[in-house]
Amino acid sequence: MQQLQDATDYLIQQTNSFVPAYGIILGTGLGALVNEIDIQYSIPYHEIPHFPVSTVESHSGKLIFGQLADRPVVVMQGRFHYYEGYSMEQVVFPVRVMKMLGIQKLLVSNAAGGLNPEFNTSDLMIITDHINLQPTNPLIGPNKNVLGPRFPDMSEVYDENMISQAKQIAAANQLPVKTGVYVSVPGPMLETKAEYRYLTLIGADAVGMSTVPEIIAARHMDLPCFAVSVITDLCVPGKIQKVVISDILAAAATAEPNLTLLIKELIKLQSPPIAK
Ligand code: HPA
Repeated sequence: MQQLQDATDYLIQQTNSFVPAYGIILGTGLGALVNEIDIQYSIPYHEIPHFPVSTVESHSGKLIFGQLADRPVVVMQGRFHYYEGYSMEQVVFPVRVMKMLGIQKLLVSNAAGGLNPEFNTSDLMIITDHINLQPTNPLIGPNKNVLGPRFPDMSEVYDENMISQAKQIAAANQLPVKTGVYVSVPGPMLETKAEYRYLTLIGADAVGMSTVPEIIAARHMDLPCFAVSVITDLCVPGKIQKVVISDILAAAATAEPNLTLLIKELIKLQSPPIAK
């Protein structure tokens, strides 16, 4: 808790007490939303006390404060994955700090493999529920009662309101948007064909290596959450190809304008713009 407070205090001081209303986490190859932000402060992770530092090349590692469609946001450009060797507490450290800075809602994106045969590369999938197959989770250990309860409810993890608003935005803009269940696996290796089959059988529509730890920490703190996957490769028998990170980044890049539009329009529906 002291480390969380140190990081929060540092950011309050560095940003002249900027209070973000929304926290946004951008996934692999999905950083372009930042170009839409009227940036006021950009703080590299390595300058923030106790913050983990990104190791994945495609993540640039900054906390960005500014206005998105005239709403105050804090954006994580680059996130932390369990497979990088961080503890789950480190993975969710930034989410807890964003909450302590004042965010009221959390919006998350990720790159994921498509298990549902209806999905195409570069589709967006609004996450309606998840399955946690990570080997551990950020709430293990003594409960931090000031953050949330020992046994947080998980019966409605993803905010129904934001889901239905996002569906309407997608329909109005003819975006290729699906809905489905996201399964989070530790990685970093991709799945075998048998594992893809297994993940499909247990009820998942997309698979990735992130998001669920952050969402668990956010729900522990009772933050309403919205999350969306960008389908970067297909994991359906007959469509499975050798995955190369450059293909994943290319598919993410194709979907990026749609993701940016969706998040921006969704933010606009959450609150009126700040007075200028
Ligand atoms: N599996 C796991 N994680 C992923 C995938 C996948 O197929 N694609 C993008 N992230």
